[in-house]
Amino acid sequence: QKRLGILTSGGDCPGLNAVIRAVVNHATLTYKWQVVGIPYATRGLLERKAIPLSIHGLDLRGIDPLLNMGGTILGSINKGDTLAHVDEIIAGYHALELDALIGIGGDGSLTILNQLQSQGNWQFIAIPKTIDNDVGKTERVVGFDTAVNTIVDALNRLTFTAASHDRVMIVEVMGRKAGHLALHSGIAGGADVILIPEIPYSIKGVCEHLAELRDRWGRRFAIVVAAEGAQIAADSFSHPSCEKPSCGMGQYIADEIRHCSNDQIDIRVSVLGHIQRGGIPSALDRLIATVFGKAAVDLLADGQSAQMVAWQNGQVVAVPLEDVLACSPCLVDPNNFLVQTARSLSTYMGNIT
Ligand code: F6P
Repeated sequence: QKRLGILTSGGDCPGLNAVIRAVVNHATLTYKWQVVGIPYATRGLLERKAIPLSIHGLDLRGIDPLLNMGGTILGSINKGDTLAHVDEIIAGYHALELDALIGIGGDGSLTILNQLQSQGNWQFIAIPKTIDNDVGKTERVVGFDTAVNTIVDALNRLTFTAASHDRVMIVEVMGRKAGHLALHSGIAGGADVILIPEIPYSIKGVCEHLAELRDRWGRRFAIVVAAEGAQIAADSFSHPSCEKPSCGMGQYIADEIRHCSNDQIDIRVSVLGHIQRGGIPSALDRLIATVFGKAAVDLLADGQSAQMVAWQNGQVVAVPLEDVLACSPCLVDPNNFLVQTARSLSTYMGNIT
């Protein structure tokens, strides 16, 4: 009987518990393995902690809460001091008598876990999760869809209040160095301006676009979605005093628009922050989580290791972790069809250089 460990690492996102549920279910029912949860990612290995997991462990009148519960029941750490304790963490894996490990993480955590598994000679399978959608070699990750829906819901609400007061609403969204969240939610939420790290823009361009909306189309409000990692514009008046992260990207863009409009535009800023990481996972995220969890267990049963489960062309496949990490973080291609679509619908997105 195999003893399988599972851990969640890096920033949480909706759908992690659904992965845990799928892994426990499939591993215990199909393969009769024992599954233990490692709390707080590598810290749990370091401290040699393992929690036995059973599919009926959280029984609430027969209701299985894990499928639709946000966050992670195992806890997670974002920036631990893992690299200072590599040998003890590897020893912890063996002390816990694990035969295999499933790690659910984004590109940062998977880089560290890949180093540990290769040095420790672990049997290891990775499952990609992140609201940033920046893990390479996979078209889908756990958590992104729910975050996009959360932002679109916020944009719906902000549009009505912006329209009622003739305001420009700047909405700052997460995504780290990648613009996937801003791009997807901006299109789905009908944003007038979308600023992402991958595409340079000018403040003049933003202001001219807002003026055109007003003068040509009679629009008295506008929605600007700005990725937290968007660039500082070359023609910025506050540059370089307004450096990230000392000034939030949304606030920075608001100040710039105020300046270029001679304070004639009424602007408000909404920083959505960690609201984007919470909530009940969407149906799509539950589906991805369930499919990935099952596939990861099957890969281990097949004797495979150092692979990540990935969604490619409508299939779930195994990709060597090394190949995934070689192209992560995976950024938005500035010429992709989503950018072209947004531009065709007269959304200002800056200039592809
Ligand atoms: O990587 C996920 C993410 O939510 C990013 O979009 C964001 O920049 C970061 O994590 C926030 O991290 P923390 O939870 O440490 O504030």
